[in-house]
Amino acid sequence: MKPAFDKVETPRLVLRRLEPEDLDALVAYRNDPEVARFQSWTDYDAQRGMQLIDSMRERQPGEPGWFQFAIALKATNALIGDCALRVDADDPRLGEIGFTLSREHQGQGLGTEAVKALLGYLFGTLSLHRVFAVTDAKNTAAAMLLERLGMRREGHFLENIFFKGAWGDEFHYALLAREWSSR
Ligand SMILES: CC(C)(COP(=O)(O)OP(=O)(O)OC[C@H]1O[C@@H](n2cnc3c(N)ncnc32)[C@H](O)[C@@H]1OP(=O)(O)O)[C@@H](O)C(=O)NCCC(=O)NCCS
Repeated sequence: MKPAFDKVETPRLVLRRLEPEDLDALVAYRNDPEVARFQSWTDYDAQRGMQLIDSMRERQPGEPGWFQFAIALKATNALIGDCALRVDADDPRLGEIGFTLSREHQGQGLGTEAVKALLGYLFGTLSLHRVFAVTDAKNTAAAMLLERLGMRREGHFLENIFFKGAWGDEFHYALLAREWSSR
């Protein structure tokens, strides 16, 4: 049995549980069309935000399904984004990640810092074997972030998703635990 998730710290950030006090910040950045451009949602409202926060209260990362981590500034505890893990229901050693940062906090290396800490936690504490991520092929910032952390582009799928009114291409990235530890 893994210990209950508390937090993961980096020089500037803390990955922690979402709290009800995060609601306004969460809705503000998720409702930003630039931030939502390559994400599944549009018109993110407070009801949806509260549902997400509530649904994470009893969950632990590593349980089948998604776990959403808050990304907060260490200095103020203010929410600036979120990242997530979904483990495979049939084999919890396989995980998928996702990540989002508010527009005003992008371009400062904070996304890379958060996802690096997330991967460290997944391969370390949770002992995952393989982590993958899916990005829209036009989402250059996300693809660069994953490549900066050593993730391997394993596939470019052509028009494999009908997304926000048009067919889109996706990149699939992955990293194995042994690749992470030999970086
Ligand atoms: C993808 C996303 C998380 C990237 O966040 P980010 O914080 O801007 O990304 P990074 O942390 O990697 O920032 C890197 C940039 O900051 C710059 N930077 C500034 N200070 C830095 C520092 N101290 N360390 C590292 N990079 C730094 C880098 O040079 C780099 O710029 P470049 O890409 O022009 O070369 C962000 O764009 C986002 O939330 N997008 C919307 C949601 C989304 O699409 N998510 C992905 C779904 S798959």
